[in-house]
Amino acid sequence: MLLKSKQFMKRNRALGSMRILAIETSHDDTSVVLYDSGKVLKDYSISQTSFHKKFGGTVPEYASRLHAENLPRILADVLNDYDLKTIHHIAYTSHPGLVGSLQMGYVFASALSIALQKPLREVNHLHAHVFAAEFTRQIVYPALALVVSGGHTVIYFLKSPHDINLIAKTSDDAAGEVFDKVGRALKIGYPGGPAIDRAAQANKSALISFKIPADLDLNLSFSGLKTKVTSYISSHRAALNATEVNRVAASFQESITDYLISKMKVAIAHYKPRSIVLGGGVAANSVLRQKFSKIHPHAIICDPAYTTDNAAMIAITSEILQKA
Ligand code: KG4
Ligand code: ZN
Repeated sequence: MLLKSKQFMKRNRALGSMRILAIETSHDDTSVVLYDSGKVLKDYSISQTSFHKKFGGTVPEYASRLHAENLPRILADVLNDYDLKTIHHIAYTSHPGLVGSLQMGYVFASALSIALQKPLREVNHLHAHVFAAEFTRQIVYPALALVVSGGHTVIYFLKSPHDINLIAKTSDDAAGEVFDKVGRALKIGYPGGPAIDRAAQANKSALISFKIPADLDLNLSFSGLKTKVTSYISSHRAALNATEVNRVAASFQESITDYLISKMKVAIAHYKPRSIVLGGGVAANSVLRQKFSKIHPHAIICDPAYTTDNAAMIAITSEILQKA
């Protein structure tokens, strides 16, 4: 993977290069990248998804154990390819995430920092989902960012890279969590998000109305929608053939994306940002991407290569925060 943002590269030429070893272990991806000035030199990530699949979700205890196994393996490969004395610093995900998984990343990053005598920089996982968008296009401030992931759903107002204010968060489930739960109820595979996206694309039938009542505040809540959709699935279980599964998937997706967009519109009207950003695992959703691109002239949507958890977003965030 060798992606770079032209604007980011231009800015970097002016500010000097920065080579970073970045580590992301907040959930079930053991992700390490070697990165230099807006560009991923090499991605050493190992996904645990196929392991957790059989349990229908991530098992935290196994996730930390697998990080403990994967990290030394990855390090051996990195040392084979690069002289780590050439790096400027080590960046790692400090929070939020699964405690045991975060701990593995922290211990690994600190041990390397001591051994290599290189500075250690901590990066907030959710802020990294925002700055991952800079692989695509530079954020213009003030900005609004919608981060939709498996564990979190938040809207930030950013006055600058160092001045990030949380203006909305879900009071119950995260958007990705609801995608996963609906996917499980429809029995279409794990994780549910990409499976629902695919099923919805195959739908040709009229949509079922799962509307969430529109309100003008910034509070986010998904439990009502989740209950509506899962109750519908239980009461129509006998009639759920492939066509119906696609229809329910498309209807749910329409409703949750409309809801997220309506909240962004409320935030845009109030904060009047110069750019808006979409990041996090659910930012890979094809319908959400289309709708998001239409609500602001400077909408930056994270490249699908960097929407789900990855160490590249930790690296780019660390560099942006160093240089801003
Ligand atoms: O950001 P992420 O990789 O992990 C967390 O930090 O939680 O997000 C994972 C979430 C999962 O819930 C997954 O179902 C969802 O992102 N996801 C999607 C799509 N691809 C991944 N949701 C909707 N549509 C997609 N195409
Ligand atoms: Zn994430």
